[in-house]
Amino acid sequence: MDFSSLFSCNTVTVAIVVVVLILLFSRSLQWPSNLPPGPTGYPVIGSILLFRNGNVQEIFRKLRAQYGDIFSLKLGVNLTVVISGEEALKEAFIKQAEDFSDRLENTITGQVLLNKGIVFSSGEHWKQTRTFSLSTLRNFGFGRKSLESRVQEEVAACLDIIEQQNGQPYDMKELTTMAISNVTCSITFGNRFDYTDVKFKRITSLFCECFKLIALGRHAQAFPYLKYLPGDMFNIKKLIQNTKDIRDFVFEQINEHRNTFDDENQRDFIDAFLSQQSKHGQEDAIFEDLNLAVSIINFFVAGTTTTATTIRWAILYLIHNKHIEDKLRQEIETVVGTSRLPSIADKPHMPYQEAFIAEVLRMGNTAPLSVPHGALKDIHFRGMVIPKGSVIMPNLDSVMTDPELFENPEKFDPERFLGKDGKLNGKEQNVMAFSLGRRICTGESVARMELFLFMTSFLQRFEFLPESPDKLPFTGGVLELARVPKDFKCRIVKLK
Ligand code: HEM
Repeated sequence: MDFSSLFSCNTVTVAIVVVVLILLFSRSLQWPSNLPPGPTGYPVIGSILLFRNGNVQEIFRKLRAQYGDIFSLKLGVNLTVVISGEEALKEAFIKQAEDFSDRLENTITGQVLLNKGIVFSSGEHWKQTRTFSLSTLRNFGFGRKSLESRVQEEVAACLDIIEQQNGQPYDMKELTTMAISNVTCSITFGNRFDYTDVKFKRITSLFCECFKLIALGRHAQAFPYLKYLPGDMFNIKKLIQNTKDIRDFVFEQINEHRNTFDDENQRDFIDAFLSQQSKHGQEDAIFEDLNLAVSIINFFVAGTTTTATTIRWAILYLIHNKHIEDKLRQEIETVVGTSRLPSIADKPHMPYQEAFIAEVLRMGNTAPLSVPHGALKDIHFRGMVIPKGSVIMPNLDSVMTDPELFENPEKFDPERFLGKDGKLNGKEQNVMAFSLGRRICTGESVARMELFLFMTSFLQRFEFLPESPDKLPFTGGVLELARVPKDFKCRIVKLK
């Protein structure tokens, strides 16, 4: 045996391993000693094994009990800092908003969307795009159609489909997804699509698939070098292809709008954008077509699954709480009656519906860990240092389940938000479903309008029953990118 060649071969292997390890650790070697406390974890993988067979919310609850409101975890190459509890969340995301309102630029989703639009951009680009989008959504009223009438149009289409089921067991997942996606179409493209429209069905399913692919791709974030392996282990190529198909569809819509654009007669979000573009010019990065397309994709991806899932949580809690369903319907009969559909003007007179929606948002807990923020520089917080490049997670779940804020947090109870006079008692303000601070959900007012109009209209016409009396749907959630209920069917019976 040639020992010298064996020795040199081993030396090369060892050298490669050492270089790889140095590269992997080079970031963690730069981390300061006063990091937020947390588990040590293993070399290379960090604490990833903690999540082997566990519910992430439960694991974070345990880590918070052990390490406090601000703890850190090494997950592959990333340091993740989790912030829990109302006080710490407000201190970070409101009082120290200047430091805590960014997103990391090297995330997979950020790169797929070229760090444009709202959700994955930061700095001045994000501020200006967000301000334009918010003010357009807030003052929404293009042509003769208000935002409310667009939602009502969709509600009416949805009621028809439900009626056609004749009270047979039915899964509301596809219908709610298409309905919410269609409201976004109406806001952005100016028109809704028929539910059987092939192009619309395909685009909606691509949006939903992207939402799932982003969840699956999270591991690639922790171990970015794995994405160079052959194949498409983390579905990143699929995510890129889906996004490209969606972008092509949105660009088609933008071009059609440009051909028929009339500044005096703006029809929708695209027209409002084109109007600004004509003043600033395409060279302005805020008002270029690509930024418009990505902002629209953001609305679909951030708004569809979250809102549709919240409606399904509402139905699930109705099935489990017949007495609450009766009380809701009683309020609708008193305030609205049965001869017309509910409208937003009814909302201030319907505190029980508002309390119900607040409780659905709290217990449904659709975005328990919000969307990750990121440290674009070293952040000094409560005597600790959150190093540049860290992922920062607002642990909204810690607020939704806080017994100090919500007595018996595991009980579904809309009454907790009502005073003795039957009016809202202000505790609904503590429900942080839409996050907080400068990144607070841009679509909150749209989502709240949708939740109110869809749910009150459903309850006015139909009763929700379990698939069979001995088959109540499971109330636990599954954390994908959003926290969703397990698929369930129900019988939706027309009221006499
Ligand atoms: C019940 C429904 C919804 C829930 C629970 C929800 C929740 C959230 C949460 C937790 C965030 C992350 C905020 C953060 O980074 O801290 C967010 C961001 C966002 N949401 Fe929603 N959302 C809902 C509906 C919608 C709708 C209907 C739209 C659009 C029409 C929308 C558009 C957005 C956008 C654009 C962002 C990014 C904001 C930014 O980064 O500045 N959302 N949402």
